[in-house]
Amino acid sequence: MSKAFTPRVFSGVQPTGNLTLGNYLGAITKFVALQDQQESIYCVVDMHAITTWQDPADLSAATRGVAAAYLAAGIDPVKSIIFNQSRVGAHAELGWIFNCIARMGWLNRMTQFKEKAGKNRENASTGLFVYPNLMAADILLYQATHVPVGEDQKQHLELTRDIAQKFNNDYADQLARLGFGDAFFPQPEPMITGPATRVMSLRDGSKKMSKSDPSDMSRINLTDDADTIAQKFRKARTDPDPLPSEMDGLEGRAEAANLVGIYAALSGMTQDAVLGEFGGSQFSTFKPELSDLAVEKLAPIAAEIRRLEADPGHIDQVLKDGAERADSIAQPVLASVKDIMGLVR
Ligand code: TYM
Repeated sequence: MSKAFTPRVFSGVQPTGNLTLGNYLGAITKFVALQDQQESIYCVVDMHAITTWQDPADLSAATRGVAAAYLAAGIDPVKSIIFNQSRVGAHAELGWIFNCIARMGWLNRMTQFKEKAGKNRENASTGLFVYPNLMAADILLYQATHVPVGEDQKQHLELTRDIAQKFNNDYADQLARLGFGDAFFPQPEPMITGPATRVMSLRDGSKKMSKSDPSDMSRINLTDDADTIAQKFRKARTDPDPLPSEMDGLEGRAEAANLVGIYAALSGMTQDAVLGEFGGSQFSTFKPELSDLAVEKLAPIAAEIRRLEADPGHIDQVLKDGAERADSIAQPVLASVKDIMGLVR
């Protein structure tokens, strides 16, 4: 029988530029909902960010910016733990250990590395290659059981499960001897749910909406003002047909499906219900409705982010307190890992 682990949520966001509607709908809104159900830990993964070049001043600002977005979206820093990764040294330590557990072949299959390294693979940092091992360390350091993420992180979650499994297998004798049963690490469940697990670019329905896209028109940033949001949706690429009344009618219409998914996620409606309301409408009718809804939902968050960013001392205190709480969970786990492996401490 496999061991039961206490439910615990962990997730993270990289401080690498403006947060997008994709980050918000694919991840952050779910963080807010989950904090009432389970112990939740939300990290600003600054050590992941530095796998590609980051200007130091921008990195600090973006780290506080992600923390501000967490708070503005409704994550309660008392209920949940909010902190930045580099403050808890155990992430790097367990990350190293996982560099020694994961296999080259596993990492060679990671599509995100291939995308991010691009053609110039020889020039990618070695950190970018082992990035998924650090991500596994983030999650398993807290023996987290649930990980809310967007669709693009699915492969990394599978790798995390493989690392947990290999560790449990490799050290099975030690686990039994030290009283840990048959598993020290859980098999964390990816939570990839809802109508907006993969929000697409507004300019190209085959590409993910991303903070690193060179075109700002391709994304809605959480801090965009009302006019900018309206302009971006107005210019969003679509086809000439009206919206269908049924989901089947969205097949082969990536741009239309994307806008319907965004509307559904922002309104809390199902995609079916959105089509029930707007089926037969032209985009010239639907797009203004969508921008009004987006402005209604995002404007208060943007205002709160700005208010919080004006007081970096408060954000730093939240991150520092969160790091202390995270560290107190992480240290005993890391100590057990060392005992299991025979690392003298
Ligand atoms: P990052 O910083 O790229 O994105 C943060 C979260 O936002 C989701 N997301 C999207 N969801 C839907 N549509 C989109 N267009 C979109 N773009 C981004 C991502 O799936 C993610 O959930 N490797 C992670 C950060 C990380 C992490 C972790 C996550 C590091 N350690 C441990 C979970 C657990 C990343 O780069 O996310």
